[in-house]
Amino acid sequence: MAFTYFFRDMQILELAVKHVVPYVSGRSRIKIWDAGCAMGPEPYSLAIVFAENMGQFGFKNLLIHASDYDNSNGFGETIAAEVYAEEEVKRIPADILAKYFKPNNRMGYFEISPLIRERLRFQHHDLLSLSPIAQDFSLIICKNVLLHFQYAERIEVIKMFHSALAEGGYFATEHTQKMPPEIAHLFTQVSPDGQLFKKGDGMRVKCLVSDKNVYSSHAYLILGEWNRLEDINTLLDVGSNNGIVSRVAAMATGFGKHAVEQVVLTHSHSDHTAGLASIIERYRPRVYAFAPFEGVDHLLRDGQIIRMGDQDFEVIHAPWHSDDSICLYCAAERVLFSGDTPLHIRTPGGTYLRSFADFLERLCLLQIDVLYTGHDSPVTNDVNGLIAQTLTNVRQSRIMETAGRR
Ligand SMILES: C[S@@+](CC[C@H](N)C(=O)[O-])C[C@H]1O[C@@H](n2cnc3c(N)ncnc32)[C@H](O)[C@@H]1O
Repeated sequence: MAFTYFFRDMQILELAVKHVVPYVSGRSRIKIWDAGCAMGPEPYSLAIVFAENMGQFGFKNLLIHASDYDNSNGFGETIAAEVYAEEEVKRIPADILAKYFKPNNRMGYFEISPLIRERLRFQHHDLLSLSPIAQDFSLIICKNVLLHFQYAERIEVIKMFHSALAEGGYFATEHTQKMPPEIAHLFTQVSPDGQLFKKGDGMRVKCLVSDKNVYSSHAYLILGEWNRLEDINTLLDVGSNNGIVSRVAAMATGFGKHAVEQVVLTHSHSDHTAGLASIIERYRPRVYAFAPFEGVDHLLRDGQIIRMGDQDFEVIHAPWHSDDSICLYCAAERVLFSGDTPLHIRTPGGTYLRSFADFLERLCLLQIDVLYTGHDSPVTNDVNGLIAQTLTNVRQSRIMETAGRR
């Protein structure tokens, strides 16, 4: 009998759901494949985590295809009976058990809520056939299965998963399973602390420092896939001088694409913008900023969505460092570009505007894994905690209603 249980390795299930939910947001058909699902606890656990993290309507659009080759492991019978013994459900947190399970007529057995059951389809399938059960999956999860295969078989099975994933879809496996180097280029590992991989190059962020001897902000070149014309090469800030031009020229920016199709400026201070004229002269990009100044031809508004690389970013007006400061947030990648907006205020004290506290409150509602700042190294450790602490410190400081007496 295959070894499996409910809520096994929750870390990877939760990490996958955390990334997949924003990726599939707004879609009317969301397909997941649990490959090598054994007797069902894993796909049911996955469905429950989705139910807990998705709106009711989004969840109704989800279908989990769960497959196993059922080599005498009870797959068929257990799935058909749709009940699980008390012993098998004992690891499930009490609130989840009460919410999604109820005692079955058969003494000592539990059945799963129809709300969850309806979102699953079980089928027999041999992964070594190397033909996927369907196409266009948003997530494929295959845990504690690949280790049973020869190395060469493992490579072929992961390649088959890659072919069955939608562009930008995710592949999750267990912590101890490493991605074979021969096929690592097909995916991007999403986070260092979990075996979750995204199909394709995905968004690539290159930090270009114009000249270490000159005071300048970072300039970030945001690229999508090298051969997708619809991905928009974007320079976020340009630094204080023309050194960025040669840095961009030295980069591989994609096949048949403009090296810099657009520039987005986080604010107008010269350490972020003085290199603009040379970028315009060389690349003739569209130039976006929150307030007008020389070289800007498109104005951004709070709440607007702008595409950079292969992702949509929300413009968030960030009034404090300057009146025209903005941050840019990508929900799908959980990334925030903050320009010079101070998000790491270590102690209470000083004076802040009410609108800045309101802005921080808004930021606290977002899920941020990576913070790209205007001058420092990217922050990847507990960004949400850092912003929450900053908000606490600002709230304990003096708050002004308007900028008049600043
Ligand atoms: C240890 S169980 C893992 C179950 C579940 N994924 C988990 O992590 O709890 C391994 C499962 O892989 C299935 N399996 C092994 N080889 C397979 C193949 N070639 N095709 C499909 N399933 C396979 C077995 O039948 C078994 O149910």
